[in-house]
Amino acid sequence: MDEMIVLAEAPELEFDYLADFQQHKKVRQNLFYTTEGAETFYTYRGAELAEMCSDDECAFFARQPFWTAERRIAFVSLGCGNAGPEKPLLRTAHTGGYSVAYFGVDSSRTMLGLAQQNLADEHFPKTFVLADILRSDFVDKWRPLLADYDVQVYAMLGGTFGNFEQALIAEALARIVPAGDYLYLDVVPQFETPDKNEALRNRLVRLPQNLSLFFANLLEKLCIDQAAGELVGEEVYEADVDALRYVVSFRVREPLEFPCFGGIVRCLPGESIELMNVRAYKPAALQHFMAGWGFRYLDAYTPDVGNLEHLWQRFLFQKCAV
Ligand SMILES: C[S@@+](CC[C@H](N)C(=O)[O-])C[C@H]1O[C@@H](n2cnc3c(N)ncnc32)[C@H](O)[C@@H]1O
Repeated sequence: MDEMIVLAEAPELEFDYLADFQQHKKVRQNLFYTTEGAETFYTYRGAELAEMCSDDECAFFARQPFWTAERRIAFVSLGCGNAGPEKPLLRTAHTGGYSVAYFGVDSSRTMLGLAQQNLADEHFPKTFVLADILRSDFVDKWRPLLADYDVQVYAMLGGTFGNFEQALIAEALARIVPAGDYLYLDVVPQFETPDKNEALRNRLVRLPQNLSLFFANLLEKLCIDQAAGELVGEEVYEADVDALRYVVSFRVREPLEFPCFGGIVRCLPGESIELMNVRAYKPAALQHFMAGWGFRYLDAYTPDVGNLEHLWQRFLFQKCAV
């Protein structure tokens, strides 16, 4: 089975995002990944995934009491992108005799196309779902698709969780994950040692330079003339999650006008357009934050990141009964 389900049409989603942008001068992260943004993202994310090794991730799941061969398991990747990070786990679980079905959910049709291609040779059941998980109608449309499964594991991989406004995404996840089921969050942790952490902070604050092509594409898509301002990276301490947030903005230098949804957006010199947020977490603080949204921390998996300059850490939670 390899199925594509559309819960919201792409033009409808893009309309929401651009209208939001026009009103708040903040770019919702979905816009990055539509059309050519998806390919651009994987020019650097692909290299990162190639460097990482998660061969023992299946063993990590196998030691969780809920992950058994008798149960029908739905593995749902929210913001699945090209399905790269979850592919080794799913393949090993399937060949190891687990009854795992994959659901890749993304608001970018281009990303879902990449995921389909990437998993084309895999033999477990696959369903690709075009939807925005933040929309209020998502849960009602989504629930019936999972009626046949004993266990639901919702993964949010590749730092996607850290791109959203934190209360907004935690509230959405609390609605999406049924009581008793599981959430698997992949985040960039802060380092324990101050010198390594300092290097991480310096790197994250330079995101505009390090991902210049990625941001150039986005500005072009928004019809913003890059010459009218500059990309700026800033570090902000976020007290509610006790995390470091890195904000990339376009700071306008010259009066700017650009078309947006049949109207014109005007920005004055000194104004900023917020493009992207990335976070680095303290594990215990994130676990505490998620507990406040009804997620009980169970266990952590740390992939081998090879020569990457920062770590990844995946936390498994169970949604408590309300
Ligand atoms: C940082 S990328 C990570 C992709 C993939 N999980 C990985 O690790 O390579 C974030 C992904 O989430 C998707 N996304 C962002 N906001 C979303 C939303 N509200 N609903 C559904 N997908 C969303 C984007 O289209 C993009 O594919």
